[in-house]
Amino acid sequence: MENKRILIVGAKGQIGSELLDYLRAKHGTDNVIGADLRTLHINGPTEVLDVMDFSAMRAVVEKYGITEIYLLAALLSATAEKKPEFAWELNMKGLFNALNLAKEGLIKKIFWPSSIAVFGPGTPQENTPQNTIMDPNTVYGISKLAGERWCEYYHNKFGVDVRSLRYPGLISWKSQPGGGTTDYAVEIFYEAIQNGNYTCFLDKNRELPMMYMSDAIRATVQLMEAPAEKLNIWSSYNLSGISFTPEQIAMAIADRINNFSIDYKPDFRDKIAQSWPSSINDDIAKADWNWKSEFNLDAIVKDMITNLTNKLQLS
Ligand code: NAD
Ligand code: SER
Repeated sequence: MENKRILIVGAKGQIGSELLDYLRAKHGTDNVIGADLRTLHINGPTEVLDVMDFSAMRAVVEKYGITEIYLLAALLSATAEKKPEFAWELNMKGLFNALNLAKEGLIKKIFWPSSIAVFGPGTPQENTPQNTIMDPNTVYGISKLAGERWCEYYHNKFGVDVRSLRYPGLISWKSQPGGGTTDYAVEIFYEAIQNGNYTCFLDKNRELPMMYMSDAIRATVQLMEAPAEKLNIWSSYNLSGISFTPEQIAMAIADRINNFSIDYKPDFRDKIAQSWPSSINDDIAKADWNWKSEFNLDAIVKDMITNLTNKLQLS
């Protein structure tokens, strides 16, 4: 078996922290290096690294003999709207640094996540296809769409093996989300368990594509392990789990937490969500690398409440 040395940049974030545990269990702790701008207080090899610093990234890659990078450092949709120029700079520079390390032959493979935010108000909202109108109206969405184009360009022009998924909103109990529009679907569990009430920043009928973290991690690793010749998409694959509205998830939580109540105070994030699809067609991911999601809404709610309750009692 090929000896992988993996670098996760953004390893302290919502996805990175879980991906790190998953990949360390699979490939061994010493073969998976966690890097972040913030210090990681975990066992095993870690680095404090700014993804915007090309020479620092190259030094880490050389130090550990890295073969694959999972590039997760970015500003998410809601935070990016508050710092548009910085978000563009961070989201693009980190990607270019990784792409150029691969172009130089220093690393063999990159994973870089895109998002449902690449779509916009002109996109068909239901069962959104892989290839369609893409007119994102957020700085985050613009950076993700540009990133997708650059990934495909580096693949076609320089043979770089860079793989990508358009993640839906991700729901997790181990790690907290980092400033996105879909964060409500995690916050709601904390508030339901701790206070019995949640004030939602999206409209009660705002339906969005979502996915449980374990499905997202599985999809990521499955795509990275798929034979290159099976892949037809070198920009970013549509990926679908489930879709629900705030009202629907609140009802599912209320079935398990007595007297849980929700009220709605939509803010600027509701406008962002309004421009995104309500459901995603991922037929190409299913056909190319056998993708299949496992968690439906009921399974997510059950798992979240059980694990988050335990976690909050222990903390
Ligand atoms: P997050 O905000 O939780 O984590 C990002 C991590 O990157 C943080 O730990 C942060 O400290 C680190 N970071 C920020 N700037 C850095 C820098 N200059 N150098 C090194 N590290 C830096 O984000 P996440 O939710 O884990 O998302 C990871 C990726 O997945 C992002 O590209 C995001 O756009 C994408 N994505 C996430 C979701 C989701 O629902 N979580 C959905 C779609 C796409
Ligand atoms: N979950 C992300 C966000 O809301 C979507 O990319 O920003």
